[in-house]
Amino acid sequence: MRVGVLTGGGDCPGLNAVIRAVVRKGVETYGFELVGFRDGWRGPLDDDTMPLGVDQVRGILPRGGTILGSSRTNPIKVEGGVERITATLERHGIDALVAIGGEDTLGVAARLHTAGVPVVGVPKTIDNDLSATDYTFGFDTAVNIAMEAIDRLHTTAESHHRVLIVEVMGRHAGWIALHAGLAGGANVILIPERPFDIGRVIEYVEHRFQTRYSPILVVAEGATPAEGTMGVLSGELDAFGHVRLGGIGDRIAAEVESRTGKEARCAVLGHIQRGGTPTAFDRVLATRFGLHAIDAIKDGDHGKMVALRGTDIVRVGLDEAVATLKTVPIERYTEAEVFFG
Ligand code: F6P
Repeated sequence: MRVGVLTGGGDCPGLNAVIRAVVRKGVETYGFELVGFRDGWRGPLDDDTMPLGVDQVRGILPRGGTILGSSRTNPIKVEGGVERITATLERHGIDALVAIGGEDTLGVAARLHTAGVPVVGVPKTIDNDLSATDYTFGFDTAVNIAMEAIDRLHTTAESHHRVLIVEVMGRHAGWIALHAGLAGGANVILIPERPFDIGRVIEYVEHRFQTRYSPILVVAEGATPAEGTMGVLSGELDAFGHVRLGGIGDRIAAEVESRTGKEARCAVLGHIQRGGTPTAFDRVLATRFGLHAIDAIKDGDHGKMVALRGTDIVRVGLDEAVATLKTVPIERYTEAEVFFG
């Protein structure tokens, strides 16, 4: 059997661990031949392949990024895109495809499955916002990077009696902000699910200074002010129609400075959260996803995504996997509020 593998969407630590597991079990246990498609859906669209054997995956377990490359190419938006993909798969004698990605990449996988392409999905995203799985790999690494940044910012904020704001990723879901903020002892956490009241934020900041500590605010890039009180950002759209975000932390810093007279600065962590070596948790989760994905291919169980439920890896329908985003429930946010201010 010949199996194609691709990684799509924003990269995240652990992608190489999945690829390695798919290849090692595919070749050594099942005797499959693996073919890599470069840069997400662009690979099968443009017929861009690379060899993917045991030699190619040696030493990649701890490496961030993806040896296959990634892109946000959306073949559904390309004229004749689905037909071009099926033609490429036929040309290379590909019997099944492993698509590793987030809601966009797996949404395309679900559409292709309906069009007759035998595909199995593996969930990835640092945002942890896929509802069918308890966790996605990449999230734990991103949270640890953000937590370390918060730890470091605490000491310098206190030396200078400043407000420091950390802007983290998360356009629709505030999981990184919530977990990093809790782990790092933030004084305010702002997430997209809960529009914030800047007046309340200012109260927290002032209260924190009264207790002789410097406030640390963790802000998800998708956080928005309530009732348009601070204006909204506009930006370019990517191929899946998402606005390119960034900037809310700086806007809050300006607002805090003007309302409190205290110096406020923002550190935008950006792609630092997506780069570098995965944590042990993410390496293990990614490896297990890879092993179970190639098992699903062996079983001919297409149209499925592997998912973590508790400590078990299960298979769920790709349709179900991309149906709704997993956002932070309001009660989880409320739990954290006891530490605000
Ligand atoms: O979906 C993962 C993610 O890192 C989001 O948290 C972020 O909003 C987005 O990708 C940024 O995308 P890019 O780096 O591709 O512009």
